[in-house]
Amino acid sequence: ALISTTPMLEKARADKHGIVAFNVHSFDSIFWVLEAASDLKSPVILQTTVGTVKSLGAKNIAEVAKTASDHYGIPTGLHLDHCTDFEVIKEAIRAGYTSVMIDASMHPFEENVSRTNEVIKLAKSLGVNVEAELGKVGGVEDDIVVSEEDAEKAIPLECKQFVEVTGVSTLAPAIGTAHGIYKGKPNIDFERISEIANLVNVPLVLHGGSAVPDEDVRRCVSLGMAKVNVSTELKNAYSIAIREHFEKNPESLDPRAYLQKAKDAAIEMAKSKIRMVGSENKV
Ligand code: 13P
Ligand code: ZN
Ligand code: NA
Repeated sequence: ALISTTPMLEKARADKHGIVAFNVHSFDSIFWVLEAASDLKSPVILQTTVGTVKSLGAKNIAEVAKTASDHYGIPTGLHLDHCTDFEVIKEAIRAGYTSVMIDASMHPFEENVSRTNEVIKLAKSLGVNVEAELGKVGGVEDDIVVSEEDAEKAIPLECKQFVEVTGVSTLAPAIGTAHGIYKGKPNIDFERISEIANLVNVPLVLHGGSAVPDEDVRRCVSLGMAKVNVSTELKNAYSIAIREHFEKNPESLDPRAYLQKAKDAAIEMAKSKIRMVGSENKV
């Protein structure tokens, strides 16, 4: 069964390990991520952006995720990533998602609060986890594009106030990472993470997990960032494996051949990220 991500993440924060939330973009990749998690006996979160919901369907995604989680028997959450649209949030919850992100980070504080409250009103009684973002995470994630100049770090006192007035169950404060692969090394504000973690008890979420050095992610996790989002590195790993397959074997059109290579690459990447956050043997 799919479970709420709230207890999973609260336990992780208390225990100072992380849980990876992998963005999945296809039905196959749901099974690949769960096979990796199952091999390492690790709880895991599957997440999809709104673009993936539009492409695959919320109901289909939830049914496949549930089937796969039952098959592998590991604690699995299903999360809607970076959603700005209340209607899509309702659709996801109705379909069986156990966690949703209301991304109102592009709005002023008060409006972020009121949009988050609207989602909490719907989600809390159903046991669905709610994630909100403060500050602005840079980079590109689906239709949400934030340039380097517009990226903005979260203000610690606002984080405290936000959690107090909304009662949100998980908070994603922007702290210097960006979506996608960086040009250089990310400039993570560890001091700010500590300040926020001292003021806020709920599990914190690290966005833009791809291309952050492992030791930096571990430091974020040790400071209270319990959910670590990884999208780009996973999809790139298996897409490149497929590209290499066709470069080497342009005549081979057997889907099982190229999907096997994609699967191997995806599982290897997923395992390395699970090991990075220390969630092996935590089921
Ligand atoms: P990356 O693409 O950098 O891994 O970011 C993932 C993310 O934050 C999804 O919300
Ligand atoms: Zn993100
Ligand atoms: Na990134």
